[in-house]
Amino acid sequence: MLHSIEHPLISSELTRLRNPDTSSRDFRAGVRRIAALMVPQVTASLQTCVTECNTPLEITSGEKLVRPVILVPILRAGLGFLDGFLDLMPDSGIAHIGIARNEETLAPETYVLKHPEKIDEAELIVLDPMLATGGSAIHAISRLLEGGAKRIRFVCMLAAPEGIAALRTAHPEVDIYAAAIDRCLDAKGFILPGLGDAGDRLFGTI
Ligand code: PRP
Repeated sequence: MLHSIEHPLISSELTRLRNPDTSSRDFRAGVRRIAALMVPQVTASLQTCVTECNTPLEITSGEKLVRPVILVPILRAGLGFLDGFLDLMPDSGIAHIGIARNEETLAPETYVLKHPEKIDEAELIVLDPMLATGGSAIHAISRLLEGGAKRIRFVCMLAAPEGIAALRTAHPEVDIYAAAIDRCLDAKGFILPGLGDAGDRLFGTI
């Protein structure tokens, strides 16, 4: 299912990020704030169970998450999204997956994958600010499923309709959360109107 997260604080922050004059420092801070603003909706369907809870006065009942959460930033740009999630979910585990395009075949390839134990028991939240062709997200999710993951949701800031369609076709069981859905891709696979290359803008690279 596709969840389009609409919020005035997110849309106004995103407008600042699209501006090419926004510095790396402000870009990183803005991506972090958008990530944090997305957390309540992304996590709203996590299951909880009843647990005993002590107060200073008596014993009562509370709630706790049924399963651990593992955040999975897709390198590099996903790292920009990670801190906003960790701000609100500091107990989460963290997995890293690095994906690059093979320059000859143009197919996405994994250059690093490290994750905590028992990903089959966890709720995985895959993070990447950009969903363009969908190649990176599809590849990352396929690798996590091969590794035993059973519950995966995908979160991006900007999505292209082409990437959403491709991801939904490849992994229909994965819920997609996006803060904005832009018009289309250009001939090089960049999102239009977009904000440029999120990884380069986050880290000041060219
Ligand atoms: C960008 C972006 C996504 C991916 C989206 O990463 O951060 O990971 O492209 O494109 P896709 O949907 O067509 O796969 P990039 O490959 O530029 O790497 P980087 O994050 O290291 O800059």
